[in-house]
Amino acid sequence: MIDRYAVIGNPISHSKSPLIHTGFAHDSGQAMSYTTLEGPLGQFAATVNQFRAEGGKGLNVTVPFKLDACAYATDLADSARSAGAANALKFEGDRCYAENFDGVGLVRDITHNLGHALRGQRVLLLGAGGATRGAVLPILQQSPARLFIANRTVAKAQDLVAEFLAHGTSAVLEGGGYGDLGAAEVFDVVINATSASLGAELPPLPASAFAAEGLAYDMVYGKGLTPFLQLAQHSGVAHLADGVGMLVEQAAEAFAWWRGVRPETRCMIERISVPLQ
Ligand code: ATR
Repeated sequence: MIDRYAVIGNPISHSKSPLIHTGFAHDSGQAMSYTTLEGPLGQFAATVNQFRAEGGKGLNVTVPFKLDACAYATDLADSARSAGAANALKFEGDRCYAENFDGVGLVRDITHNLGHALRGQRVLLLGAGGATRGAVLPILQQSPARLFIANRTVAKAQDLVAEFLAHGTSAVLEGGGYGDLGAAEVFDVVINATSASLGAELPPLPASAFAAEGLAYDMVYGKGLTPFLQLAQHSGVAHLADGVGMLVEQAAEAFAWWRGVRPETRCMIERISVPLQ
């Protein structure tokens, strides 16, 4: 019987993960299957138990189950613990290992695929939800000059920063509201980790926050020029990107973790990219 993997979520039919992982398996000669698994709400553990009983080896986890995945796992990697959420599970006997590869996928896309080093850069992260949580440590590991987390609900950004600082993370980390971004303050890299783009909304970000030679990165993918990317474009930002590379890179990290082989990502990113227009 070949090894079975899947992505669990609800809804899940839109997921690009089966396309990505079957492509990786084909390219790297791995005998495995990868499907979608729609988990009924409130029945994450029962659904995963059944998948394991049928020989499942690992799962990617998406909305709304990333917190459930953390609670379910027996062994949490630092990435999952600090994010409070897991996006990949691996089953070995009665153990369930949990990782969160979203942040590392983001950083690899920015630094490796887009060629934009984060070292010494002024980075602005918009939002204070799960997507931001996963990104904080991998960004700090790149030694930026500054990492500011801005959120609509100011206390949430402040609490998040306090939580990371309490665990000894770098003093370059700060948080606040959009109103705390001074008119003169400019960021080399602005990352939209809010869910605003999903509803074609724009976080209340001053256009002056973008450095002209900088990078504006929207974590959503396949939506073309989101209102956030349009604002960046109108502000004259040199480099715009959506989250398609992050999606493929986090998938590659999970694939390597499960199979011991790191797949090539560039062709896959090109294959599923939607032009930014
Ligand atoms: P995720 O797990 O995808 O990060 P989440 O935990 O629901 O999702 O967080 C969504 C984030 O997007 C929050 O930071 C939210 O801001 P609030 O904390 O103030 O709710 C942010 N967000 C959503 N819509 C937004 C909008 N239109 N403008 C600005 N921020 C928005």
